[in-house]
Amino acid sequence: SLVYLNGEYVRLGDAKVSVLDRGFIFGDGIYEVVPAYGRKPFRMDSHLARLERSLKAIGIKLDMSRADWEKLVRDMLVRASSDDAMVYIQVTRGVAKRDHAFPAKAPKPTVFCMVSPFKRPAAAAREQGLSTVSMPDVRWLHCEIKSVSLLGNVLAKQHAVEAGVDEVIQFRDGFLSEGSSCNIWVVKNGTVLGPVRDNLILEGIRYGFIEELARAAGVPFESRRISREEVEQADELMLTSATKEVLPIVSLDGKPVGNGKPGPVYARLRAGYDKAIA
Ligand code: PDD
Repeated sequence: SLVYLNGEYVRLGDAKVSVLDRGFIFGDGIYEVVPAYGRKPFRMDSHLARLERSLKAIGIKLDMSRADWEKLVRDMLVRASSDDAMVYIQVTRGVAKRDHAFPAKAPKPTVFCMVSPFKRPAAAAREQGLSTVSMPDVRWLHCEIKSVSLLGNVLAKQHAVEAGVDEVIQFRDGFLSEGSSCNIWVVKNGTVLGPVRDNLILEGIRYGFIEELARAAGVPFESRRISREEVEQADELMLTSATKEVLPIVSLDGKPVGNGKPGPVYARLRAGYDKAIA
């Protein structure tokens, strides 16, 4: 399959980046994951707006307009081997002699894009729900940047794998932050609660979407700090991401969430999600 690298479409095996690329040396770059259904990108504008915010946040300047990004995503989807697909975009600061500071003369950023088949969440996950364990959030304080420096997230996901569960729920100073690569939602007394959109979480493109789905379903929605106790005593827990869509969480640290089954608020949001992507 073909990937995009610095303006050219090449075979995956032929796509080569220098070992001095600052993405490789320092994790000095950002990325984006845009889901597509039936070859149509879903919420592309929001994803590209976040891409531009990430670039700005780390001071990478590129001569790619919004229209250029859109064209890249659409060109990749034409090449996709499946109708449901994930478009991955990565931009690093480029190739330079190893020095932590930004190079005095900005190198040409490395722009990479690939498309992979999107295996949507299995019926089992949707109907039976996911298991989780809690862990302290030991990542840095700029989680709002969609950085390729993902060691903290990688170690968090591995913690889930080694615990034999599907995902982790991270807490910082006793308050909910997020999963290893997803946002976490709490339902209590019929209200959907999401953590504050600050520097401690990556605000998913599904954050605003869940808010919209909740309002459309007449379910009250609130963004605020959420204590560990509130998570433990939730009626329902859910997670969202481009790849997981919205899924119910039915256990935390070996204890059932609510009655241990996917709940009614999940079912309503799930129905709204399915309708929006149909
Ligand atoms: N991850 N929080 C983190 C840390 C994430 O990595 C992600 C997404 C999200 C959810 O964001 P969105 O709704 O825009 O997908 C929250 C992507 C899918 C990934 O790293 O592959």
